[in-house]
Amino acid sequence: MRKLLLQLDSSRLPSAFDQVVAYDAGADEIMSYGGVTESDIRDLIYGCLFTRGPKDLKNTAVWIGGTNMTAGEQLLAMAVDAMFGPFRVSLMLDSNGSNTTAVAAVVKIEQALGSPTDKKVVVLAGTGPVGQRAAGLLAKDGARVTITSRKPEQGDKARQFINARFNVQVESATLADPSQLPRALDGAAVLLNAGAAGIQMAPRAAWTGVKTLKIAVDLNAVPPLGIEGVDVNDAGIMKDGVAVFGAFGVGNFKTKLHKACIARLFTRNDLVLDAEAIAEVARELVAKQP
Ligand SMILES: NC(=O)c1ccc[n+]([C@@H]2O[C@H](COP(=O)([O-])OP(=O)(O)OC[C@H]3O[C@@H](n4cnc5c(N)ncnc54)[C@H](OP(=O)(O)O)[C@@H]3O)[C@@H](O)[C@H]2O)c1
Repeated sequence: MRKLLLQLDSSRLPSAFDQVVAYDAGADEIMSYGGVTESDIRDLIYGCLFTRGPKDLKNTAVWIGGTNMTAGEQLLAMAVDAMFGPFRVSLMLDSNGSNTTAVAAVVKIEQALGSPTDKKVVVLAGTGPVGQRAAGLLAKDGARVTITSRKPEQGDKARQFINARFNVQVESATLADPSQLPRALDGAAVLLNAGAAGIQMAPRAAWTGVKTLKIAVDLNAVPPLGIEGVDVNDAGIMKDGVAVFGAFGVGNFKTKLHKACIARLFTRNDLVLDAEAIAEVARELVAKQP
């Protein structure tokens, strides 16, 4: 039976990136909808549920994407709500690649660091979708996480959102200028840059002098890079006593994870792949690595 992926994208144009990866991961056909809102969800999901018998429903799956993470979360909640009894299909949420990117970064950090329990982690510009997901997952794994923002209200709003979503206690700090970085990084074991593309967030001198720092991860692939001195292809090499990862150093695993998750959707009809479940898939992939 053909594997059908229903792509529900909150942005006007359904993501071509998500389509290409889904085909590469084994979907036979992708039915794409853009500009999807909450009021569209029920009928679109019913279209999946009532067309194939329950035992064949694992061959239909739903992908939720788009640039807006909050919209994606709402669409996911409504899609789950529309299902009942055996009438279910597996779903995955990865608005703007935020879940797979954050999980890939967290897994790389935990591979290099070991357990993050009680380690101080600073997520630079952790107010965006990727930073929020990474902060929540690391805090869930026991790290003492601080997210930074240029604006106190924005940082506080993101902090509250992360704490509620992941049932954790992250802190937020205002970082209006890189000169404030050394204070924010005091005692940190991990620096994770989740700042917007093309923005340098940490000059070299701000992180190389931090004696406690073990790992620095930059998710920005667009020059100027986010952490000066960390190159896009760095994948765990040591620089100034710190294991460093650039955007492609994380991104290669992210792509592998993204494909593995899509393939996983078609193995059963009751999966909901959000951050935590995607992290489980990532850990299984790591465990299988030679
Ligand atoms: N490697 C991969 O596979 C992959 C995949 C997806 C995304 N990414 C990268 O991951 C990073 C995070 O993605 P995202 O979508 O979460 O980011 P985002 O929402 O675009 O930006 C994250 C935060 O950056 C801060 N920011 C925006 N403009 C800024 C500026 N001019 N100066 C300083 N800070 C600024 C904002 O925080 P405040 O306003 O609170 O300060 C914003 O909330 C990006 O660099 C993205 O390109 C990588």
